[in-house]
Amino acid sequence: MIKSKIIGMGYHTPERIVTNKELETYMDTSDDWIFSRSGIKERRWVENDTAVSDLALEASKNAIRAASISPKEIDLVIVGSISSDHYFPGVSAQLQHKLGLRKIAAFDIKVACSAFIYALSIGDQFIKTGMAQTILIVGAEVQSKFLDFSTEGREMAVLFGDGAGAAILQKTENDACILSTHLHCEGKNFKKLWMEAPGSAYDCQTHTVDFKEKKHFPSMNGREVFRNAIIRFPEVIKECLQANDLELEEIKLIVPHQANFRISKAVAKKMGIDMKKVYSNISKYGNTTGASIPIALCEALEEKCFSEGDIIILASFGAGFTWASAAIQW
Ligand code: ACO
Repeated sequence: MIKSKIIGMGYHTPERIVTNKELETYMDTSDDWIFSRSGIKERRWVENDTAVSDLALEASKNAIRAASISPKEIDLVIVGSISSDHYFPGVSAQLQHKLGLRKIAAFDIKVACSAFIYALSIGDQFIKTGMAQTILIVGAEVQSKFLDFSTEGREMAVLFGDGAGAAILQKTENDACILSTHLHCEGKNFKKLWMEAPGSAYDCQTHTVDFKEKKHFPSMNGREVFRNAIIRFPEVIKECLQANDLELEEIKLIVPHQANFRISKAVAKKMGIDMKKVYSNISKYGNTTGASIPIALCEALEEKCFSEGDIIILASFGAGFTWASAAIQW
C-alpha cells in the first residue's frame, strides 16, 4: 500500500532575538508577566527587508538538503501561512520561483496554527492517490510586522514570533509513515482569534477607518482560546490514539503547536502525560503560528528526542477554531 513519509526537515528563524526585556521598552509589560502567562522568554523578528517567502525559502533549502533530494524531484508545494508577502498570490508561488522548481502545482492554505498538520494531511492524500510523489510542505510566518506594540496591543504582541519550518514528504511502502491525520474546524468561533481587516467584508473606502480602529491587528479572546484549547488538544490526541489502536505509553513524544506553555501544561495535566513527553521550544521562539510545529519537530529531531521506529503525535489548536492531529511512525 502506498503511504507517505517525512524524509527530511529544515527550519529557519531570523537572527534578531527580541527579549521580553526589549518589549518592556515598547509597552507596559514585564518579563515576569510574559514568562508566567506563556513560558516565552524571547522570540525572533525579521528585519524590515525580509518577508515570509524569504524565511520559507531558507527552511525549504534546509529540508531539501536534509532529505538529500534534488529540487527537481519536488512535484507539489503546499505552504501554510497567514502572513503572505502580499495579499495575493500566496507564498507558494514565490517559493516555487525562488527555489527554481518545475511548473508543478503550488498552493497556500490559511488555517493558522493548524496549517502544518492540514498541509501534511493534504500531502498524504496526494501521495496515496498517486497525484504526487515528493512534496515540499512549509509552515512560515512573519508576524512581527502585523502586531500592535502599544500597550493596547500587548495581549497579542508579546506572544508571537517569526520563523519557518519545512518538510519533504515522499511516497513509501514501509512501516515508517504518516499513520493518520485528523482535521477539525468549528467556524462559529472565528471572531475569537482573528485579524478583522483588510478583507472583502469592507470596501476600500472604509479601510482608513479600519486602520484607526486597529482592525488590521490580530486580536483574541484569550480566556476563550485557553478554554477551547484545553478541550480540543486532548480530544484530538485521544481520537488519534483510538484510530491507531495506541496507548499513550506507546507514544515517544507529543509535538504540540507552541501556543502557550501554560496551555501545553494544562493539556498534559488533564491527560496525565509527563511533560518530558511534550516537546516545547516556545521560550526561544514564542508562538510562530503555522511555523511552530515544523520548527519544533525539526528541533526535536535534532535533539534526538525520538528516533527510527518511534511513534510521535503532532497536535494543533488555533484560529478558526481549527484543531488537528497527526500520528507518525518515524
Ligand atoms: N503584559 C502585562 N499585562 C498584560 C499583558 C501583557 N503583555 N497582556 C494583558 N495584560 C493584562 C490585562 O490587561 C489584564 O489587566 P487587568 O486585570 O488590569 O484588566 C490582565 O493582564 C489579565 O491577566 P490575568 O489576570 O492573568 O488574566 P487571565 O487569567 O484572564 O489571563 C490570558 C489572560 C493570559 C490572555 C489568558 O487568557 C491566556 O493565557 N489565554 C490564552 C491565550 C494564548 O496563549 N493564546 C495563544 C495564541 S493563539 C493560538 O496559538 C491558539
